[in-house]
Amino acid sequence: MGDALIEARDVSVTFGSGSRAVRAVRGVSLHIDQGEAVGIVGESGSGKSTLARVLAGLQRPDSGEVLFEGENIYQRGKAYRGDKRRLVQMVFQDPYGSLNPRIIALSAVSEAVRVHGVGSRADATARSLELLAQMGISERDAKKKPRQLSGGQRQRVSVARALSAQPAVLLADEPTSAIDQSAQAQLLNLFQGLLDGGLSIALVSHDLGVIRYLTQRVYVMKDGEFVESGPTIEVFDNPTQDYTKKLIASIPGRELRKART
Ligand SMILES: Nc1ncnc2c1ncn2[C@@H]1O[C@H](COP(=O)(O)OP(=O)(O)OP(=O)(O)O)[C@@H](O)[C@H]1O
Ligand SMILES: [Mg+2]
Repeated sequence: MGDALIEARDVSVTFGSGSRAVRAVRGVSLHIDQGEAVGIVGESGSGKSTLARVLAGLQRPDSGEVLFEGENIYQRGKAYRGDKRRLVQMVFQDPYGSLNPRIIALSAVSEAVRVHGVGSRADATARSLELLAQMGISERDAKKKPRQLSGGQRQRVSVARALSAQPAVLLADEPTSAIDQSAQAQLLNLFQGLLDGGLSIALVSHDLGVIRYLTQRVYVMKDGEFVESGPTIEVFDNPTQDYTKKLIASIPGRELRKART
């Protein structure tokens, strides 16, 4: 720990122009160290997903830069060239949009295993089924297309797909919003195991119980800016900003937190 694996420096993103301009992210800096889980929280529309997309190299910032292992993620105009593409994976807030509607879950995952790994098709299939099983997706459900799965199942398939690349950094945008408590606990255990193995995670969630359980540090976002950041427990137990206090008071994750403490 200590050396940032991924770092954003003074990043800004504006959508549209003139009187319609939305300054979604305004001069934000953050870092995630190896093996660290960092939370990003804030009300709807505060810029969390936009920031996650910037870290993933999917949204180019108007100003500021993102570094991965100390190097700007954009080289010769493209983000995450070569092997780095595999090392940073994103789970999208809307898994419908990120999964190909014509491809069954198993193929979506094994395709990613094969793109990023070596081994035969049979190995990739076995590895994918194992990953899906870890996510609580049965072999039967693995043969379904996205629209035949529930929202929570789709979400878990997209987590399995992202993890199949064996990334160094997982950018997870609301990965637990559609899944029930037991699947959630399973996913959090899996994440915890991967963190112990050195994975870094940026976790965007409205569920502050999940953030509290998994992350060491948290950034609180409001209108595109960080209003508060620090060790998760300190920020949650002694928030300095009214905005953070209100966010915590409106917790949907209180029950989970109670269950875990
Ligand atoms: N592609 C886009 N074009 C125009 N405006 C956008 C675009 N994407 C996001 N925005 C705007 O940028 C702001 C931040 O959006 P963002 O999706 O990052 O918020 P969020 O914090 O992830 O919200 P939520 O918790 O609801 O997911 C919002 O005002 C949103 O309307
Ligand atoms: Mg969002």
